[in-house]
Amino acid sequence: MNIVVGITGGIAAYKAVGVVRGFVLAGHTVQVIATEHALRFVGKPTLEAISRNTVHTDLYEGVSEVRHVAIGQAADLIVIAPTTANTLAKLAAGIADDLLGNTVLATKAPVLLAPAMHTEMWMNAATVANVALLRERGFRFIGPASGQLTGSDSGPGRMSEPDEIVAAGLRMLDRTNPHEEVRAGSGAAAGPVTEPAAEPAAEPLPEHPLPVVARDLEGLNVLISAGGTREPLDPVRFIGNRSSGKQGVALADAAVSRGARVVFVGAHLEVEAPRGAEIHSVETAEELRVEMIALAPEADLIIMAAAVADYRPRAVAEGKIKKEQTGDTLTLELVKNADILAELAADAGAHQTIVGFAAETAASSDELLVLGRAKIARKGCDFLVINRVGWHEGFTTDGNEVVVVDKTGHIVIEAAGTKVSVAHSILSAVA
Ligand code: CTP
Repeated sequence: MNIVVGITGGIAAYKAVGVVRGFVLAGHTVQVIATEHALRFVGKPTLEAISRNTVHTDLYEGVSEVRHVAIGQAADLIVIAPTTANTLAKLAAGIADDLLGNTVLATKAPVLLAPAMHTEMWMNAATVANVALLRERGFRFIGPASGQLTGSDSGPGRMSEPDEIVAAGLRMLDRTNPHEEVRAGSGAAAGPVTEPAAEPAAEPLPEHPLPVVARDLEGLNVLISAGGTREPLDPVRFIGNRSSGKQGVALADAAVSRGARVVFVGAHLEVEAPRGAEIHSVETAEELRVEMIALAPEADLIIMAAAVADYRPRAVAEGKIKKEQTGDTLTLELVKNADILAELAADAGAHQTIVGFAAETAASSDELLVLGRAKIARKGCDFLVINRVGWHEGFTTDGNEVVVVDKTGHIVIEAAGTKVSVAHSILSAVA
């Protein structure tokens, strides 16, 4: 069969050599179309040696043989690895300002895209919309996977491994009936693609505005607490905290999108509860404790993102506390609440991973780490997400900045960005 491997300009282009090689070893004829930018990352001679064919880049070469459409017309499958955010946008818009764009527009073959970019770019609303549109038009996706990216950051955006891309491409070829017209990006004229039943990347986009990411938590039960507990003083008043629940909801959304079964225990959320999760609502620290302890045995991963009241009033007044009775000052007696995280960590089974959060108001990053390391030692959980909080930091904001340490106090990741991207980084770190 004739397979066209498109390579676009991202660092993952060096891995495209493995994709070309995989298809050649599987006995197929491979034509490589590398964009100008791709050739800054990987050399033409390498690709020609591995593909055993001339590598095409220039739209104005081979004009007499109408190459700009001929390659696409002759293709049985087109695989673009890596597909950059820019290429996704161009494909979605049907732009044909280079040979690859022309080839895709001219083909009736199925097209498999292996995106690779930084997490923020993958989650950008423009990219999300482009991916949705391309899926609608019949393009297939593999990945991106989650993991270490080019810089110090990690998260979804890493190109799937070459052997996975080759396997997905070969499955698509197997399912393509050569006698049936198949459709890729070429619009309404063509018939439907035979749907690959077990194609991991062919999942529909979730309804909420999260991008589709690697389903690396498939089969896992994840229990997440979020929000802030409230300890009643009387029927109208409580002692509470400023947690909005945003980071916990983002974690639950992220875990759902990565294939986990998520049970979510929320206390006074200021945001919508996560979709696709089993929701439990609680008021107080003690109610949260009871729920978490009941639900914990089922969970493989437990994340305590909730801000739990450390103390509760010793007595809760039956009726509203009246000023006439209390006078000019009011002294409250508070008693300590149980430490839920420490309890969950102490009772954890061998299969369980427990993640805690640390809300600290430390002035410097060093001080933050010292407090975080002391906290994880006290709590006994597997990972601690250290989070600076303050009058204007951490609580109701959409962004977050965290350091995750493991049991030994080692920094596992540092992540900054939207709470959604931080959620993905945390999940990738513990996955
Ligand atoms: N936590 C808990 N039960 C409590 C208090 C906190 O499970 N009674 C959990 C939180 O959900 C979080 C972690 O412990 O995952 C750390 O919470 P934090 O408020 O940062 O720490 P504290 O335990 O309150 O310790 P300190 O007062 O020293 O900051």
